[in-house]
Amino acid sequence: MAITTHRRFLIEPGGALTGSARVPGDKSISHRAILLGAIANGITRVEGFLDGDDAIATLEAMRALGVVIRGPNEGVVEIEGVGLDGLRPSAAPLDLGNSGTSMRLFSGLLAGQTFASELIGDASLMRRPMARVTDPLRRMGADITTTDRGTAPLVIQPVSGLDGIDYEMPVASAQVKSALLLAGLYADGQTSVYESGVTRDHTERMLAALDYPIHRDGAVVQLTGGAELKGGLVRVPADISSAAFFLVGASIASGSEMTLSGVGLNPTRTGVIEILQRMGADIVVEPEAQASGEPIGTLSVRAADLHGIDIPVDLVPLAIDEFPAIFIAAACAQGETVLRGAEELRVKESDRIAVMAQGLQTLGIAVEPQPDGLRIQGGQLTGGRVQAQGDHRIAMAFAMAGLAASEPIVIEGCAEVDTSFPGFVDLAAAAGLAIKSEDHSAHG
Ligand code: S3P
Repeated sequence: MAITTHRRFLIEPGGALTGSARVPGDKSISHRAILLGAIANGITRVEGFLDGDDAIATLEAMRALGVVIRGPNEGVVEIEGVGLDGLRPSAAPLDLGNSGTSMRLFSGLLAGQTFASELIGDASLMRRPMARVTDPLRRMGADITTTDRGTAPLVIQPVSGLDGIDYEMPVASAQVKSALLLAGLYADGQTSVYESGVTRDHTERMLAALDYPIHRDGAVVQLTGGAELKGGLVRVPADISSAAFFLVGASIASGSEMTLSGVGLNPTRTGVIEILQRMGADIVVEPEAQASGEPIGTLSVRAADLHGIDIPVDLVPLAIDEFPAIFIAAACAQGETVLRGAEELRVKESDRIAVMAQGLQTLGIAVEPQPDGLRIQGGQLTGGRVQAQGDHRIAMAFAMAGLAASEPIVIEGCAEVDTSFPGFVDLAAAAGLAIKSEDHSAHG
């Protein structure tokens, strides 16, 4: 029987968040820096790379595909780009751990190669829907299979070539868009992706920054295969998705005042700021010069009295990863907060509607889960033992809940916090959260 290590967070109630912090590098941009740097010509130097398990899964998979990568060393990674046709087959299946972004983006990148690949991951990743990428990739001519349930392992066989397609995405997904654009680099002719809702555009920005011709016209992104990416410098901003925990924590804990520097402020990612501001949060944004085609800035946040809102549906894709944190803000707000149009939350690293609803109920908050969202009646967070179910963002959201709770909170299933936010416990403790982390072993 295998012994697995579990991590729990122990949070004492109360406290305030103060001081300045820089949260780790953006996860989405770190993945793309490796993927695009590897197939560029020449060296790509990445600064501010996220040294977390998900981005490392992408980096290790790229090494397995024959790319020489140095680092990460204090956030610096150097990639010896092999050009579009320089990847080599991996001797073993590519294990992408917990990372949905890695699996979906690699499926697009590998669909047009002249060698076979197999993509696998941990139990959570092996449950997540992959047909959303494999269906359109097949329409481009890819030979790619999933299980009958449309899940990994993904087995990709070489094909003689791919053809560009016009594809209207049924879900608003940056991962699907990016997979198709990556496959489009290898396709004959033009690939056009129509977005039903605005999604993060880091792939498009980085392709442009590395000199690959790409066009956007309204809701359509287009590129033509066979051109060249030129390696260069990629500066990765601090991750707004990680900053979000501090925006919420400082908003709900009286006496808080925090500054978060170098945060990525790409308008396709800033929904969390707008939602919190509509709830009454005191967040000031100071834009700075762009970094590698991405807007960045400093965020200052102070405690504020929050009120519940109906979250506008068009903000959902712009805050898709921040709802665990936003739900904690809603639990501390006066009145009701209603989220709709967010069924995607059910297929993230966990079912974030169900897992958050259960934890909030344990903490004394009245919630009503819906198929596509959640109604939350603001109230007094009590305390108790909640399950993060191995979902990094849920673990960190419940940790912040401790600031406004009346009793201690114990959070089980926190080891995956390292996928996106290594050093979270130390950074949160330094800012004023009374958090301890405890590892324990279990058979099974
Ligand atoms: C991501 C896109 C989003 C997001 C995920 C990262 C990306 O997923 O939830 O954490 O880096 O492209 P979807 O594209 O599935 O919405």
